[in-house]
Amino acid sequence: MAVVALALSLTGGPTAQAADGGPGITKKQFGTLANGKKIDIYTLRNSTGMRVRILTYGGILQSIEVPDGGGEFANVTLGFNNLSDYVKKSPYFGCITGRYANRVAKGRFTLDGKTYQLATNDGPNHLHGGDKGFDKRVWKARPFKRHDSVGLVLSYTSPNGEESYPGTLRTTVVYTLTDDNQIRMDYRATTSRPTIVNLTNHAYFNLRGEGDGRILDHELQINASRYTPVDKTLIPTGKIARLGGTPLDFREPTAIGARISSTNQQIVRGGGYDHNYVLDGRGHGLEPAARVVEPDSGRVLEVITDQPGLQFYSGNFLDGTLRGTGGRLYPKRSGFALESQHFPDSPNHDDFPSTVLRPGDVYRTTTIYAFSTM
Ligand code: BGC
Repeated sequence: MAVVALALSLTGGPTAQAADGGPGITKKQFGTLANGKKIDIYTLRNSTGMRVRILTYGGILQSIEVPDGGGEFANVTLGFNNLSDYVKKSPYFGCITGRYANRVAKGRFTLDGKTYQLATNDGPNHLHGGDKGFDKRVWKARPFKRHDSVGLVLSYTSPNGEESYPGTLRTTVVYTLTDDNQIRMDYRATTSRPTIVNLTNHAYFNLRGEGDGRILDHELQINASRYTPVDKTLIPTGKIARLGGTPLDFREPTAIGARISSTNQQIVRGGGYDHNYVLDGRGHGLEPAARVVEPDSGRVLEVITDQPGLQFYSGNFLDGTLRGTGGRLYPKRSGFALESQHFPDSPNHDDFPSTVLRPGDVYRTTTIYAFSTM
């Protein structure tokens, strides 16, 4: 990856230089797509030294460097160190996921009496926006700097009919890195025709550092007392079930690995955890959804969101064949994802919160990854 570092003149302040150790943003070229398009990588650095790297390909969070309890920095998100691996093999590492994050049963939904057939790219179902979702698009980037944060505005216009979704969807995702070690993601979209939309970020985390073993000792707490059980193809059955008394209940902080080998039918179907949690106490803006503590390093991640659901995915499909950013292989369950979202397959469940977006309306949602130490 290497190419020239460009110092950017940023709005609202003196030229920001992350290279000198201060807060700011720098840009480099990361690689070139087969069609000749150049892909950039932006490095955002805050005043305490936390660094986040973002690609214009897929809006991918390529690395997130945060300190442990002793002040030692590590990159805690899974990824690659080259563009070609992202294009050819990525299981959605760090990307913006859309137009519809998660699954739509048989890729089919009906809106205003018209039935749409989306790609079926996950067995019989549609997953994460189809064959070429938002994770594989090139986003326009505009950096900015404020007195206590640095950020990147990413935008992408998805033409009417792209991946068979109706409506031209104009999307922006603003990534902001704050001085208190939060990555804030503000999503916005408008459409030219009635459509469905469900956007998220698909970062995988290992708070020990990417490539440093499995995530089974991480202690997870999720603010949910219900979830949406799934069928064998991981499509919600339509029930909203209580978590109490099941090995999926994370209301009390529990090691991810403690019950992952349970014979509970839902865990077996997911090959581990791969479920949508119905978050408690929603409807009041940004609220804490989940908290993860890695006991050895003392690193803590909190997910705060205004969304009604959270997919907890325990990295069950990682299989030791992908070599990550730092050169190490990623075994099964060496990363987990906590994807804020509307429920999977909502377009086929009238009693789930609606994912319909109409012309004139604005889709807006915010999620924060907040890092700290114990
Ligand atoms: C899904 C998993 C899937 C993973 C990577 C998650 O959001 O729930 O089933 O394997 O994304 O595609």
